[in-house]
Amino acid sequence: MENRSRLERYFILGLNGLYQGEKVILDNLKEMHETANSPELKDVFAKHIQETENQVKRLEKIGTILGENINTEEGEETLLDKGKHALKTILFMHDGKNKIVGALIEKGQDLLKKFEDDESAKDLCLAGSTQFIESFEVNCYEELLTLAGKEDFDPEIETLLKESLEEEKRAHEALKSILGKELGKMEYQTI
Ligand SMILES: [Fe+2]
Repeated sequence: MENRSRLERYFILGLNGLYQGEKVILDNLKEMHETANSPELKDVFAKHIQETENQVKRLEKIGTILGENINTEEGEETLLDKGKHALKTILFMHDGKNKIVGALIEKGQDLLKKFEDDESAKDLCLAGSTQFIESFEVNCYEELLTLAGKEDFDPEIETLLKESLEEEKRAHEALKSILGKELGKMEYQTI
């Protein structure tokens, strides 16, 4: 890491943060899959569980190509401070243990608890909270791709990131569409 440019170091930090995040998201998706009611939502979760498993492997592969250990919870505080305003997503991703993903998941779980007696609202909560996480992941991959484009990396790195980005975009769109349908089913009510 020491001999790397600042941008390369940001990239590796982002990679590391996203890797930690993907693993947490994977566990969350499995829970969401168990909890979901509608077959359509279950299918989206099942598909995205497989995709996320591949995304974790892709990130590991990128780490191997770069010769860096991405499975670490250590941050570079000085580097993070200096980049505060330029690379928000990556900095959010890399805050030690990827607290932002944890917070997004926790919010989704809180929402589910609030509606635990209302089966009709369960899928709405699941689709809504997960599509928010997917949009965050889209930002993460886009930001990593922007950084990768500025560095003279092995072209395979960009290919791997683009594959995952496309999956995240599709998952986001699928969940957004389910969210729209679930909202359409709900009658106007005060909560
Ligand atoms: Fe995802």
